[in-house]
This record gives sequence, structure tokens and C-alpha cells, in this order.
Amino acid sequence: MAGGGFVVGDGQKAYPGRLTPFVLFTCVVAAMGGLIFGYDIGISGGVTSMPSFLRRFFPSVYRKQQEDATTNQYCQYDSPTLTLFTSSLYLAALISSLVASTVTRKFGRRLSMLFGGILFCAGALVNGFAKRVWMLIVGRILLGFGIGFANQSVPLYLSEMAPYKYRGALNIGFQLSITIGILVAEVLNYFFAKIKGGWGWRLSLGGAVVPALIITLGSLVLPDTPNSMIERGMHEEAKTKLRRIRGVDDVSQEFDDLVEASKESQSIENPWTNLLRRKYRPHLTMAIMIPFFQQLTGINVIMFYAPVLFNTIGFTNDASLMSAVVTGSVNVAATVVSIYGVDRWGRRFLFLEGGTQMLICQAVVAACIGAKFGVDGTPGELPKWYAIVVVTFICIYVAGFAWSWGPLGWLVPSEIFPLEIRSAAQSITVSVNMIFTFIIAQIFLTMLCHLKFGLFLVFAFFVVVMSIFVYIFLPETKGIPIEEMGQVWRSHWYWSRFVEDGEYGYGNGLQMEKSSSNQGTKHV
Ligand code: BGC
Repeated sequence: MAGGGFVVGDGQKAYPGRLTPFVLFTCVVAAMGGLIFGYDIGISGGVTSMPSFLRRFFPSVYRKQQEDATTNQYCQYDSPTLTLFTSSLYLAALISSLVASTVTRKFGRRLSMLFGGILFCAGALVNGFAKRVWMLIVGRILLGFGIGFANQSVPLYLSEMAPYKYRGALNIGFQLSITIGILVAEVLNYFFAKIKGGWGWRLSLGGAVVPALIITLGSLVLPDTPNSMIERGMHEEAKTKLRRIRGVDDVSQEFDDLVEASKESQSIENPWTNLLRRKYRPHLTMAIMIPFFQQLTGINVIMFYAPVLFNTIGFTNDASLMSAVVTGSVNVAATVVSIYGVDRWGRRFLFLEGGTQMLICQAVVAACIGAKFGVDGTPGELPKWYAIVVVTFICIYVAGFAWSWGPLGWLVPSEIFPLEIRSAAQSITVSVNMIFTFIIAQIFLTMLCHLKFGLFLVFAFFVVVMSIFVYIFLPETKGIPIEEMGQVWRSHWYWSRFVEDGEYGYGNGLQMEKSSSNQGTKHV
């Protein structure tokens, strides 16, 4: 067994260490990197439903919105420039996450976080002072660059810093700050929309400098992870830091395993082509499929367009923004449930439970909207009870996402990649996430216009597919040290054929018992 470590009763390795105040502090600060992403997700939907913003930048949408409610409501927001505004950010994030891969690997996780904060700050300023549409788009591209850097580095940072028993909970701090960012943005939109003179949108967009400054300053005070220090040859500093992080003197077992992992990593010339090797097939599959499925839950239809959607189903502007605040609160609360449960109940349980919950809600929402709007999109008078039913089911759906695919879509990739591919593979995860966020943002309004309520059924179909995928292919990763993760593939009924024993230069010799929470793992 390379690097030592001791094996506990269930056949898994354990390192000494506890949840120290120091690690808690660093993880809380780093997790704030999620705020910028969340703030942006929450702000765009609200701003694009503010009449003063639309009148100034998207007059054709504004005119359509003013037409009376007897016309087809499904199509009122269908404008390519408006969707370009929302989605340009995601293309920029995609590109920058690829660049961030090199920065994160060669110069440490912190530097990527710093770049993330600075670029986002610049984007917020350009947007807040925007006079023309192109300024809006340039601002959003800068924001996107910032998000690419932050999302590439923060989840890795958290997974490497955390003691393995608390890795799930600490990593989900990232998702928690995404949801807090979304909620804060929605509340601000609600108030800023009321500002007389109609310039509230400037505060909404410019307000993004606040979360940007938090992560910028945060990255200046944070230490880098021991994994990254070792990877860059700083062994002594890394050992001292590891002692401080774990709160124990004897960190030699974990340290030795990190050094072994880093040796493997040093032998890799090109991390991108390396990813294509057969033994990384399970990792590459997960790096692509997990973010793909996360977006195909359809969550961002609610996140970006909640006010637009509620508006479409007959709420007034004010009520629409308010309902978005309600869904935003549910999103935060349910993420806390995930923090509590992820290291207790495991990842697979949350994925499968959340999937079932989302599926039921999507079916109900499709039925409600279909029944009321039919296929021509003309609702007539909407009774209050009806609106309450729709919003309730949307909230239950959001809760299902928020304790499953939301946090796990970031946690699971960041914890399964071995060090030698970690940075590159994480960039793939971010890029895939961004491409599909982009595609959905780009086509949602058109899809709503054409598929009508059937849109929700499309997402429901994907929720079925992704739940089956998790059931069959995703092994349980709770409670396994990050540099020991190789064992979950070696003992998996399907992935073991790609990952042979002895394939990894470290962490070998461990076999995993089948546990009740781990349907995807077999006895070996
Ligand atoms: C997803 C976002 C989504 C957010 C909602 C994140 O994990 O990546 O696309 O908007 O969760 O809370």
C-alpha cells in the first residue's frame, strides 16, 4: 500500500485529523467564490423582466410585453438579443475555465480564484454603467471569464482542503453560496425594480462588485492546498500546512500519499491528452455526464426565467419577482439539508431521491400549465389557487434539485479525479456545465414559445435518464479520502474493466466492501 495510511473496519483508509477552526474558516471564505456565480444567475432573470431595462435595451420585447394578455403568452419574451444577453456569459466562462486549468495546476488554486474575482469585478462595473447593448454584452463576457476561473478552482480547493469525512459538507459550501447569491440578487431585484426613474437595474447589475470583492480579498488571505503545494514542489511548506489544517502532528500518512499522488502527476506531460487514456474513462465520463445532466434537470429555466415564467402564467411583475424570491429561499434551505445529509446518507441516495422528487413535480407543473393555457397560450383569468399550486410544485422541484444535482453536480466531479488529471478534468466539467447552461438559456424562450407546457416533459424525460445513469454507473464516494478514490472504480462492476489493479501509483491495495448505500459497487 503506497504511502501507508491505515485501514478501518469497512476496508477504507482513514487519516487522523479533525475539523479544525482553521480549515472551517478557509473553506467558508473559499466557498464564497460561489456568490459571484449565484448573484449573476439570480440577477439576470429579474433585470430582463424590468420594463425600464427592456424599454431601453430591448424595445421590441418591451412592445410585445405591453400588448394585452389575450395574445399568445408563451412567445412574448422570444428575442434573440435578449437571450444573447443572458447567455453570452456562459460562452466566456467556458473558454476561461480551460485557461484556468493551467493556472490552477501550475500556480495554485488561489491565483485562479483571484483572477475570478478581479474579472468579475470589471464586468460588474461595465454592466452597471452600460449605455448600449454592446456594453451589456461586454460586461457579461467579463463576468463570464470571472465565473470560469472561480468555478474551476473553488470546488477543487474545497475538496482538497477538507478532511475526507467532511468533504461533502464543506464542498457544498460552494453550492450554498451559489444559492445565497441567487437569493440576494432576487431580493435586490424586487426592491430595485421599484425605484422611481427606472434606473434600479443599474444597481442590480453593478451590485455584482460586492460578491466580486469578497472573493478577491478572500483569495488574498487564503493558503493554498497542501496537494497543490506538493504538486509545485513545496514539500516542507505543505507538511506544515497540512499539520495546521488537520490539527494533528502526525500527518505523515496523508502527506506520503499526497506525495505519491504528486509523483504520478509529475510524470504526465500533457494533462489533456492524458485524459483520453483508457484508465481515465470513468473519470472522463463523469466529468462530462454529471454537468450535462445537472443542466438537463431544467433548473435554470426556473433560475433565469422565474420572473418571466411567473409573468407568463399570469402573475403581475411584482408578484413574479416575489415568487422568485420564494423559490430562491427554498433553494437555500434545501441546500442546507444537503450539507447535513451528504456525508451521512451518501451521494447516491441524494441523487436518486432528488431525481424522483423533480420528476413528479415536472409532471404536475406541465399538467397545470397545459390545462390552463392549452396549446394557444391564452389563459384568460387565472384563479389564485391555481397560481399557488404551480408555485408550490415549482418550490418542491427546486428543493429536490437543491439537495441533489445542484451541490452534487459540483462536489462529485471535484472529488473523483486523481491529482494528475484533476485540474484538466475539472475544466471539462465547468465547460460542459457552461455549454449546456448556455444552450438552455439560449433556447428556453424559443422552446417555451414552441413546445409550450411540453417543455417541462422534455426535462422530465432527462431526469429519468440521469437517475438510471446514477443507479447503474455512479459508485458511492462518501467517506473515501480523495487520493484513495481509485478503489471505487476498481471495485465497480462496470468501471473495473477500465481501471486495473496497480493502475495508479498510489493508494493501491484497498478493496471496498459492498455497503447497502453502494449499489454500484461489487465485491472483489
Ligand atoms: C448550477 C446552476 C444553477 C444553480 C441553482 C448550480 O449548481 O450549476 O446552473 O443555476 O445550481 O442553484
